[in-house]
This record gives sequence, structure tokens and C-alpha cells, in this order.
Amino acid sequence: MKWLFNRSSQTQSGTESQLSKENFPSHVAIIMDGNGRWARRRGLPRIAGHHAGMSTVRDIIRASDEIGLQYLTLYAFSTENWKRPRAEVEYLMRLPEEFFRSEIDELVQRGVCVRFIGDTSRLPEYTQETVRRTLERTGNNQGMTVSFALNYGGRADVIGAIQAFARQVENNETTWDDLSEDVFGNYLSTYGIPDPDLIIRTSGEQRLSNFLIWQAAYAELWFTEALWPDFKRAELESALMDYQKRKRRFGGLK
Ligand code: FPP
Repeated sequence: MKWLFNRSSQTQSGTESQLSKENFPSHVAIIMDGNGRWARRRGLPRIAGHHAGMSTVRDIIRASDEIGLQYLTLYAFSTENWKRPRAEVEYLMRLPEEFFRSEIDELVQRGVCVRFIGDTSRLPEYTQETVRRTLERTGNNQGMTVSFALNYGGRADVIGAIQAFARQVENNETTWDDLSEDVFGNYLSTYGIPDPDLIIRTSGEQRLSNFLIWQAAYAELWFTEALWPDFKRAELESALMDYQKRKRRFGGLK
């Protein structure tokens, strides 16, 4: 955070950013929705929307890094997305390979630490290979953490955490009495990452769709009609400025 306003006081268009140092979110999570509609409106196949969405992923990572976010989490493929037509699923599974092939050097240069949340063991071997290579190159980086949710479901995350904890109880490594909300967080796929302060969803839909359901308990929510391929840095900054005006009480009265 120390370099936050050295690097971020100007937007790409050269105008002063309205973002204040106060109430700066540490973790922003995004439900990237609307790729299919973006393509359909242009008479293109749905996969063209996913491809355009990939460029937005690159732009929003850049913008987030320049703005000074510490954690960015992107919902790229849910446990429910397997229900889509096979060709679309296959295309989505190839995107990480294409994305990291072209972006990995810049991510490394920015010091971005990439993480993957979700059950990556169920992804095709070529996607898993991309996951492994990306973790090798970026896993120890000390800059912004960008988590890609791939084959991620919030409920599956919670069940996985319960199973992992129960296994440790069986092995006498812990006891049920030691279980608290904080301890439970260490068994989720987001361990070590603070809960999201702000969750953004594009395309006008207003639901969480099984994204970070435990971690979202006190997240602020922000919705925009913009379809994901049209989501630009200015839109991200609007979300952050709106967040900065909100009073978070966490159930208290402050
Ligand atoms: C939802 O839009 C979007 C997805 C299921 C895929 C999101 C993937 C990307 C943005 C690209 C990912 C990039 C990397 C690097 C992994 P939708 O298809 O449901 O849109 P619709 O509601 O308009 O049909």
C-alpha cells in the first residue's frame, strides 16, 4: 500500500483519480458476467465474448495493480459452468493457457502472485499444466495477489474445509473445540487472503452465484449493467469510489 498514490494518482486517460487514501479496500472480487451477451449483441459466437473478456482480465489486473489493490479475485469458471455446451467448456478451459502464455512476463515483472482457487484437479491436463507453470513462475512473488477461481464453488469450498478439518481431528492434530471462524478460514481455498471487502458483478445480474459464500459475509456488493468485456478501469474506479462512501458496521453501531 505504501506506493499506492505514487503510482495511482493518474488514470490512463491522464485525469486525476478521485480515489481517496481512506477506506481503501484491500480485497476486491469480481464476478465477470456478460461475455455471451456481449458477443450475441455483435452477432458473434459466445466464445468471442469470452475471448474479449480475457482482454478485460488483463486490463483490470493492470489497473488494479496501478491503483494499489492488494488482492483481486476473479470468478473465471464455476462448478456449475460444466453444464454449458461441451465446445464452450473446452474453449473456456483453453483460455488460461492462452492468457498466461501472453501475460506471464508482465505479471512477473509486476511482482503479481497468481493463485488458483477451486478444484483444479478436475481440469483437463493441459489446463492443470498451465496452473502448475503459472504457480512456479509467480507463486513467491510479493506484489498484488490475483486469484483465479477455476472450477470454484463456494459450497464445495466450505465442504472441502470441513473435510480437511475433520481429517485433522481424526489424526488427533486438532480438536473440534479448536474450531472458530478464523480457524475455519485457514481450511478454505482462500487461506491467507482477507475476506473480500467489495464484490463486483457485471452485466446487471444481482446475485452471488456460489462465489465466496463464506468469505462474502460482510462484503459490500456493487453491480453494474456493463458487460464484462466492456468493463474498464473507469468502471472499477467508480466501484471503488462508491465503496469508499459506504459505512461498514460489521453488525455494530460505529
Ligand atoms: C460469464 O459470462 C463468464 C464466464 C463463465 C467465463 C468468464 C471467463 C472470462 C472472463 C475469461 C477468463 C480468462 C481467463 C484468463 C481464465 P456468460 O458467458 O455467462 O455471459 P452471459 O450471461 O451473457 O451468457
